Amino acid sequence: MALAFDDIALLFQRHGGTQYSGEPVTQTEHALQTAFLAEQAGADDELVAAALLHDLGHLLHDHGETPTLRGVDDLHQYAALPFLRGLFGPRVLDPIRWHVDAKRYLCATQPHYQAALSADSQRSLALQGGVFEAGQAQAFIARPHAAEAVRLRLWDDQAKIRGLATPGLAHYLERARRAAAGWA
Ligand SMILES: [Fe+2]
Ligand SMILES: [Fe+2]
Repeated sequence: MALAFDDIALLFQRHGGTQYSGEPVTQTEHALQTAFLAEQAGADDELVAAALLHDLGHLLHDHGETPTLRGVDDLHQYAALPFLRGLFGPRVLDPIRWHVDAKRYLCATQPHYQAALSADSQRSLALQGGVFEAGQAQAFIARPHAAEAVRLRLWDDQAKIRGLATPGLAHYLERARRAAAGWA
């Protein structure tokens, strides 16, 4: 079953007000800030759409507060894919799919990256398989759109700023619509 844009807006309305696990922003604020940072960096419609929707899996499945504290990897990077597949092509879906592996890649390849992660991101890292070994990192970055997933990940990590003003959901859904139209 594919989601329509109205359904996406409804998911944000219904579930976007919940606090992002262990961070000073709501799910919707985190999504908008990630899309905003992508836009500020000059990302195209596909990557802005991926930034907006990268954690949609959290809105589809309510795992309660901070699942990592209970030792649970929620696999949210995959949860939204079946719902988005009818709308978007791989330039949107792949960065969403790989945004957790991108963290494992950045920990392996960028000194200081891991230490700068938030407490919840550090906790989930182990549950998600831990830091990539050299061979895993090489294999990862060779995947299609892995470089875009890494860019998305860096915006994702920053998008936890209390009270940051951004354009609203309608603006970014419009950019996502353009990405969908480009794929159809
Ligand atoms: Fe995520
Ligand atoms: Fe995120």
